Amino acid sequence: MGAELSQDNPNPGSEPDLAVVRTEGLSKAYRTGFWLNQRVQSLRGCSLTVRQGETFGLLGPNGAGKTTLLKILLGIIRPTAGTATLLGHSLGDSAVKQRIGYLPENAYFYDFLTGWEFLQYTAGLFGLSRAAQQRRIGELLDLVGLPVETAKKKQLRQYSKGMLQRVGMAQALINDPDVVFLDEPMSGLDPTGRFQVREIILTLKREGKTIFFNSHILSDVEVICDRIAILDQGELIASGSLDQLLGTADQYFVKGRGGQIARFAPWLDQMTVQGDLWQGHIKGDPYDFAKQIPLSGGHLITLQQTRPTLEEFFIDQIRQRRQPPKAA
Ligand SMILES: Nc1ncnc2c1ncn2[C@@H]1O[C@H](COP(=O)(O)OP(=O)(O)OP(=O)(O)O)[C@@H](O)[C@H]1O
Ligand SMILES: [Mg+2]
Repeated sequence: MGAELSQDNPNPGSEPDLAVVRTEGLSKAYRTGFWLNQRVQSLRGCSLTVRQGETFGLLGPNGAGKTTLLKILLGIIRPTAGTATLLGHSLGDSAVKQRIGYLPENAYFYDFLTGWEFLQYTAGLFGLSRAAQQRRIGELLDLVGLPVETAKKKQLRQYSKGMLQRVGMAQALINDPDVVFLDEPMSGLDPTGRFQVREIILTLKREGKTIFFNSHILSDVEVICDRIAILDQGELIASGSLDQLLGTADQYFVKGRGGQIARFAPWLDQMTVQGDLWQGHIKGDPYDFAKQIPLSGGHLITLQQTRPTLEEFFIDQIRQRRQPPKAA
């Protein structure tokens, strides 16, 4: 694959990773108003890299600029400043378009077509032969969980939101792309549909595809993504792997009652004692410490991992930015 080499390989000494998406200082100001004399600054100096085979989640509140960033990468709109490459080529390169798939946020469908006809139309744009179209559409409908009969009989205007989302997903994969951009792929889906989309993304990941998606459903992102970035008011405010952002999973909080409390102190950080209740963060192996408690005559009440969920981390990041600066 003709991707450029990433300069910011996180594992020095190992093989450099291939950068599939790279942006440097990307900014976008939309012109609005009757005279186009007002500007909405939607992206501010965004620099990020997505490597080959990664599942990358872009998160952010409504209006943060996620769709704007995706549209720039797809060559649908132009940035006002900054540069970007996709698969090592500058944006808008027609050879690259053959190798990417895109599920738009509000997919515009020709709603008088049936799902099958719409997929045939899309497959035709990529030059698939009639026989290849039949085979590919059948495979994809199976993958997204839409019955062939529904796809052949019903016009898109008669589809529910979730059914449209499934057709949209099939359409994004019709050309067996190397890189898939998904704007809110779980939106409008019931729990089974969400699960299916997660499974599809994991299947694509196993096939070595690079997936870049925007989502508000943080519990799904937490399960699927190798790395994430958070965008707020057009600015990237955090990016990294979940371990980098949330901490490694082996941090534990413990709470107990009674026993020889002084013997617990060397094991615990930020220890507090109230009557015969004590608590703190375990420094060593949590299971070794848990065994010590009854040996010292104490009782374990709680032992839990302290790593925050992605949702807690996200809310905290956004809240910090919304807090007014403290007066000196
Ligand atoms: N065509 C446009 N013209 C003017 N302003 C726009 C246009 N498209 C988006 N914006 C503005 O740019 C900002 C970012 O919008 P964008 O759609 O990229 O956000 P988003 O993060 O995708 O939000 P959501 O989570 O709601 O999908 C918003 O303030 C939005 O109003
Ligand atoms: Mg959006």
